[in-house]
Amino acid sequence: MFNNIAGSYDLLNHLLSFGIDKRWRKRLIGRVLLKNPKTVLDIACGTGDLTLALFKKGVKVTGLDIAQKMMDVAEEKMARHIRKTQKTTLSKPEFVCASAESIPFENSTFDAVTIGFGIRNFENRGESLLEISRVLKKGGTLAILEFATPKNKIWRWFFNLYFLKILPFIGKIISKDNHAYSYLPQSVSTFPQYEEFASELENFGYVNIDYIALTGGVAILYVAQKS
Ligand SMILES: C[S@@+](CC[C@H](N)C(=O)[O-])C[C@H]1O[C@@H](n2cnc3c(N)ncnc32)[C@H](O)[C@@H]1O
Repeated sequence: MFNNIAGSYDLLNHLLSFGIDKRWRKRLIGRVLLKNPKTVLDIACGTGDLTLALFKKGVKVTGLDIAQKMMDVAEEKMARHIRKTQKTTLSKPEFVCASAESIPFENSTFDAVTIGFGIRNFENRGESLLEISRVLKKGGTLAILEFATPKNKIWRWFFNLYFLKILPFIGKIISKDNHAYSYLPQSVSTFPQYEEFASELENFGYVNIDYIALTGGVAILYVAQKS
């Protein structure tokens, strides 16, 4: 599905979120950089917005995704950025096509792992959380951005009107994919939210779990550490 919508993904992402997705990624990066990570694995990197934003902060970042066509867009964006800024290619991000359920890196490789709007799509979330813990260094940070449903009733009513009716309609017209933008609200409704996902992280051995509701709970930033 993501290979199919790779060409229109960025446009729809920024359009349908009114550009707020950029602010959400900034919040995640702010939290991750607090610990001064040298190496970050951006899982489900897709078209690489988070990967590029981390690279711009001077971090050695690796993007990983299961959809090669999404990463082709990421690689083009990265090459364009490097050409424009004439930055040295020494720490140029690497992109790896693999699943979060089987990460092709040694144990304790990364200081931090980031996942932007990816984890709800993983077929086997439990296995992925164990794999992430394996490749994180002890004390390393896991930062996850994921959609949620606002808790406030009035805000939720307006949000649902947009998210369940308007967004799938616009998404279908622009992406020309019949399924992808109705899959989005469906997948959000079945993903555990707030404290439920925080306790899932705890069950998989993560500690110091924190979560922050963004834009009234449209998205949540979860931060945890490998014990
Ligand atoms: C909604 S996109 C998010 C892309 C990007 N992180 C962002 O913030 O815009 C979700 C991505 O998750 C990837 N994905 C889904 N299942 C995956 C898995 N098991 N392992 C790695 N990536 C996966 C998809 O290919 C897709 O690129």
